[in-house]
Amino acid sequence: MRGKFISFEGIDGCGKTTQVKLLEEHLKKEGYDLLVLREPGGTRVGEKVREILLDRENLIFPVTEMLLYASSRAQLVEEKILPALSKGQMVIVDRFVDSSYVYQGYARGLGLEKVKIVNEIATKGLFPDITVYIDITPEEAIKRRQGKKADRLEGEDYEFHKKVREGYLRLVKDFPERFVLIDGMQEVLAVHKMVVKAVEEYLKGAKV
Ligand code: TMP
Repeated sequence: MRGKFISFEGIDGCGKTTQVKLLEEHLKKEGYDLLVLREPGGTRVGEKVREILLDRENLIFPVTEMLLYASSRAQLVEEKILPALSKGQMVIVDRFVDSSYVYQGYARGLGLEKVKIVNEIATKGLFPDITVYIDITPEEAIKRRQGKKADRLEGEDYEFHKKVREGYLRLVKDFPERFVLIDGMQEVLAVHKMVVKAVEEYLKGAKV
């Protein structure tokens, strides 16, 4: 049987990387065979593309940016995700195609249609079975980032991050069967509990 495919999404600083790690530990304790990956990155080639994308010294135009994210994703899908799923392994990704819809399609203004076409090629039409969206306000994101060095995307202004959040909320509304919205404003362990509940309900085949 094909493995389950779970993605995590959210604006920068929402805590999703911590939540992915906590869920990984929880599911491993429960005996699940799983592979955890991140985007951009997750492969040798993808990690190199990540460096280019996040380097603040690089001037990257929106279309170039969309294609770079898609190239990292194409490599990840072919090299890691599809082989793992076909072996029956569960795959958890820290960001997937929705990040491109929201950051490049919506916040950068390229439009969803263009991003969809490119990503259909990159992912071979693969979508997560469930997407855990961790919701925080852009104000909270800025507060959490204070004093930390920002990468090229994190360094974007308040309006950009506000748009990113709006984009996510729109996706959650448009695809309720795939998305689970988790309130990321609460403390880490409370968020973790909600994530575990949502994922376990999904895994049990219950409607989440
Ligand atoms: P990360 O900080 O969650 O690892 O993600 C790196 C940055 O890349 C983050 O600011 C979101 C951004 N990003 C996009 O703009 N488009 C994408 O398709 C992906 C995967 C990430």
